Amino acid sequence: MSELVARGFLRALHHAAESMLRHPPTHQAVEGAVTALHQAAEALTAAEKEVVITVGDEALFLGSRLLPHASIEFHGMRSDLQQRGVDSITVLRGASRRDLADLASVAAGHGTDLPAGGTVRLNERPLTPAQLEARPLSGLRRTYAASLDALRSVSSGRRLELGKVSGAVEGFLRGGAAEGGPSLMLATLHNHDETTFYHSVNVCLLSLALGRAAGLSDDELRPLGMGALLIDIGRVVLDDPALRAPGRLSNEDWALVRLHPQEGALAILAATRPGEEVAAQIALEHHVRFDGGGYPDLGGRRPHYLSRLVAVADVYDAVTSHRTHRPARTPHEALEILSRGKGEAFDPDVVEAFIRMMGLYPPGSLLRLESGEVVVVTAGTGGSPRALVVSDASGALLEVPEPLDLAGCRVAGELLSDDVGVPPASLLEAALAASGGGR
Ligand SMILES: [Fe+2]
Repeated sequence: MSELVARGFLRALHHAAESMLRHPPTHQAVEGAVTALHQAAEALTAAEKEVVITVGDEALFLGSRLLPHASIEFHGMRSDLQQRGVDSITVLRGASRRDLADLASVAAGHGTDLPAGGTVRLNERPLTPAQLEARPLSGLRRTYAASLDALRSVSSGRRLELGKVSGAVEGFLRGGAAEGGPSLMLATLHNHDETTFYHSVNVCLLSLALGRAAGLSDDELRPLGMGALLIDIGRVVLDDPALRAPGRLSNEDWALVRLHPQEGALAILAATRPGEEVAAQIALEHHVRFDGGGYPDLGGRRPHYLSRLVAVADVYDAVTSHRTHRPARTPHEALEILSRGKGEAFDPDVVEAFIRMMGLYPPGSLLRLESGEVVVVTAGTGGSPRALVVSDASGALLEVPEPLDLAGCRVAGELLSDDVGVPPASLLEAALAASGGGR
């Protein structure tokens, strides 16, 4: 069974638990969420009589197989379940709506156990760490989850804690994010429910790698990473429901959006410590163009060099992610857009450095080769581009992706993650293993 189906089940469980926390049990929203969970359980057990989700120390597993993407997405729910003593969830084919509602209730913290012998069982099949997939969850993935938590804490009304933000940047630097390569695959992670947060973490990862490629030291990368992680914190502070509604924004909404750089800079300045002020400047200037245009109006002044780095990373991630009003573009197309904006929207030297770092097909690109195989690019530069084969010429997905040197391979076209059903970020651990890493 694919990770996508398991993620669908975990997402439905998360939604059901969240709706139980917000509404009384008989509320229509709870009923709808439990129905969706029931359907997700049917999909989960379509091919097997029972499916076990293992709740590990740092990750979620399908049986013993690591669920890399879901481990980040449902990091909070995993740790809540673990604190409530849940090590494994067994879902039987034909699981009843009632048992699934009880499971959601446990995830919401309203209950702690399910009756033995039901169609959903807790802790029946706990696995020891030694039985779980040997490939460890990379430090980068853990830091990604911690970065999301740091941003989420602001949206839940708490004060911006720059200590958590600088800790996340430090974690990325320790994990080798600035060295690019496979770690850039992690920057392809997107989530429709939390677009702003995932986007911010991706911009941070891309900015750190770009800063290093442009020759910056760790001391310069720290404020760069903090500013990048916080570029859109003003959107969170503004928290206008109109900005979260699907579809195109009205003129009034746009006026509000244009305030987010100032709002963000003010929030950062209020929490900043000496030496970190440049993070506020980056948030203020990330929509100011190289030629002085854009917003806010700084009187035509050119933005700070670090802001120019972040602006390129910001646009690259925005263009390659799916938004409610437009589809995602491929990484290669995003590089073309940046290239067209050289000297006007973007600093030409920064764009050149970014394109050199990313290569012709940036890490995370999905390519169909003329042989018919589909590959994920794991490293675009530094010798010949490398990739992992994810499906063979007949279109069958490989259980274990195989490393491939792209030199001499002919590319037939680029694909989007939704077409292939394999999120490139899921393959980070495999890419690290193939590159001899394994952080
Ligand atoms: Fe922004």
